[in-house]
Amino acid sequence: MVEVNEGSEDAFIAIAREFSVVMAKKQYGRTEIVRDESAPSTFYAVRHWASATAAEACHADPDIHALTGRLYEIARVTHVVNGVRRVDSMRLLLDDRRAHVEPDRRSGFDRRSKDVGRTDGERRTNDRRVGPRRKRGRAAEVDLVAAARRARENADARFSNFKVGAALEAADGTVITGCNIENATYGLTICAERVAIFKAISEGHRVFTRIAIVADTPTLTPPCGACRQILWEFGGNLEILLANLTAEQATHRLKTLLPLPFDARLL
Ligand code: THU
Repeated sequence: MVEVNEGSEDAFIAIAREFSVVMAKKQYGRTEIVRDESAPSTFYAVRHWASATAAEACHADPDIHALTGRLYEIARVTHVVNGVRRVDSMRLLLDDRRAHVEPDRRSGFDRRSKDVGRTDGERRTNDRRVGPRRKRGRAAEVDLVAAARRARENADARFSNFKVGAALEAADGTVITGCNIENATYGLTICAERVAIFKAISEGHRVFTRIAIVADTPTLTPPCGACRQILWEFGGNLEILLANLTAEQATHRLKTLLPLPFDARLL
């Protein structure tokens, strides 16, 4: 998933074209770019490798490195999943430069590319495809808030008495929860959101769609600054659902809560 800096969309499309030409010329495979209809600066770059060997050669190619270098200057690449398995190990190659994941933890990204669905806008009622944009209806949203409410019950907030619960949804639909855990050395306290994300990362999840955050307050509790940074690092432009113990709910995008983020693009 490629989140392009606003105003650089044309530059991205030009780089994507060059990428496609290099891939075709060197017989690495072909590539296609799908624009997110609901977020015009978000694109899905799908690469169809000719073979695992071709994919490896492409990764090592200096021309490709030059193009990705230019890409990183104008876009944030949240994750790159190469749906290529080596014949010998049958393991999925995950090129997000953070970790290798088991095949059963594949995100919706490569599965989605296999089933592009109808182009006329008609949707199946039971859409089994999952991914950042594929919301699975109100019931699923209510579940995420309910999971955060349940997680909140486990909060250890003995100093502040301010219990918070979080429920993070991974791209494969797994829900990972967290609660705040306080410490007598107050600064060591960790928020519900960070517990959820660190648990998720440690369990092998790498792509996330939404997080619900619940506290028992009439005014909804947004994530603190530190959590916004961590959520951006690992989750990108997540959908953020805020709720309390009754019915109050609000939806935000992380990008609006953290408008000028610091991240690896600036290193
Ligand atoms: N807290 C969270 O867990 N998440 C938030 O979004 C805000 C604050 C926790 C940290 C601390 O344990 C308590 O709430 C009071 O700040």
